[in-house]
Amino acid sequence: MDRRRFILLGTAGSVAVLTGCGGSGGGEGAVTPPAVTVPPPASPPVSNPPPSTPVSPLTVGQPLTNLVRLANTSTTPNVFAATLVAQRASKAMLPGSPTEFWTYNSLVPGPLIEVYEGDTVRIRLENQLSQETTVHWHGLPVPPDQDGNPMDPVAPGATRLYEFTLPVGSAGTYWYHPHPHEFTAEQVFRGMAGLLIVRSRTDPVPAAIEEKLLVISDLRLATDGTIPANTPMDWQNGREGNYLLVNGQHRPVLSIDPGQSQRWRILNATNARYLRLALTGHTMTLIGTDGGLLRAPVPGLDEILLAPAERVELIVTANLSAPTTAVLQSLPYDRGGMGMMGPSSATIPLLTVNYTTATRAAIALPSTLNAIADLGLPIQSKRLVFSSGMGMGGMGGGMVSFLIDGKSFDPARIDLTSRLNEIEQWTIENRSSMDHPFHLHGTQFQVVSRTRNGTTIAEPFVAWRDTVNVAAFEAVTLKVVQQQLGKRMYHCHILEHESQGMMGVLDVIV
Ligand code: C2O
Ligand code: CU
Ligand code: CU
Repeated sequence: MDRRRFILLGTAGSVAVLTGCGGSGGGEGAVTPPAVTVPPPASPPVSNPPPSTPVSPLTVGQPLTNLVRLANTSTTPNVFAATLVAQRASKAMLPGSPTEFWTYNSLVPGPLIEVYEGDTVRIRLENQLSQETTVHWHGLPVPPDQDGNPMDPVAPGATRLYEFTLPVGSAGTYWYHPHPHEFTAEQVFRGMAGLLIVRSRTDPVPAAIEEKLLVISDLRLATDGTIPANTPMDWQNGREGNYLLVNGQHRPVLSIDPGQSQRWRILNATNARYLRLALTGHTMTLIGTDGGLLRAPVPGLDEILLAPAERVELIVTANLSAPTTAVLQSLPYDRGGMGMMGPSSATIPLLTVNYTTATRAAIALPSTLNAIADLGLPIQSKRLVFSSGMGMGGMGGGMVSFLIDGKSFDPARIDLTSRLNEIEQWTIENRSSMDHPFHLHGTQFQVVSRTRNGTTIAEPFVAWRDTVNVAAFEAVTLKVVQQQLGKRMYHCHILEHESQGMMGVLDVIV
């Protein structure tokens, strides 16, 4: 019952239309979102509370815990060796009824993997789940056969070794998560995801700036403490839980000294939640994106949108006077989608920042951080189209499918080819009425511009990314070059869409 390629929606006569993907007429951005008709939602079953409605308060206000670091068992310099066990584990969430998660090494979130540029990484996966799984190294430039593709599953009870070497220049904030065919969404919402940091031995950010790692995940609990399966609406809009967690905790407290600057690395490890991050009373300085540091700090930001799978590095400075607190929150964001129980658009507190009574002198940031070269002039171009459509299924039911170039994922099909080391320009055009975060495996890309309503806006700064939000009826243009041969995935990172086939295969050839 886990294998769902399609969603059954409504009944005869209550046809819901997600997109105007039929027409090729009109330029991009000229498409008008169609009217959306939705059948009234059935009252939710008791075991499956609507998203964003806490069934019971989880403990809040605990000091933020540090992530548990995965120990390196290698004694050889520049080799990182360890084991990840995919296994079920119970954790107390609601009083009296422990929650069973699917985990890496019994931890939610998974253990922190901390490695250095130039390291050879050898990680053994032991699959103790009853489903096949893989480990995908999201954003890292690893060879395709080591990247946990859905075509390389690890069967229940089986083990495999992943091995790769991290090139110089790859320092950044990454993550790892399962990527098996059709099961990615479920394995991640049940707890399987962890942060992976590639460090540089010559990091320009002063080491005296204290670092905080924040893994934001989404959890839906039923009243009995279990994690319910996806509903048809989840398969359509992407699952949102009734709790947002930071390092597995609900609304924990982070301490900061007045005057102190902290470096926050934040991962959006949710299946489908858009985090429009703001810190009350403070601005934030953006210093890094998915694939590492920016050329220069971008100060004075009131908010930062972090789509599913994206990461940022921020500098937060405690410039209010103590005693005081601030709240890191996710502001309302409309990402489209359907239904009266569609994606939430509430302000959600994530973390309380508590000023201590100590004081610290501010530490200045260098004015330049990372010499990111522009990728250069593209010699090939590709255009991808995101759409979602309604097929007429049997029995009058409509099937909604999420497609790239009109197709659903087929692991045996090659959808695109690129030549090794050729600079390409890709335009991803979203012809659906909801946002979809585009993600490409194997390398980092540079966003060039975004086009909406006929207006093209150049990207304000050069940054390495592996995931970029493509808003409803928007087109995003980026530059990319693949440096290893073999098959790569590209897909929507709303994991319910990915798991239903909003994914393609890129073959990198000589
Ligand atoms: Cu984070 Cu193909 O995924
Ligand atoms: Cu990935
Ligand atoms: Cu999507």
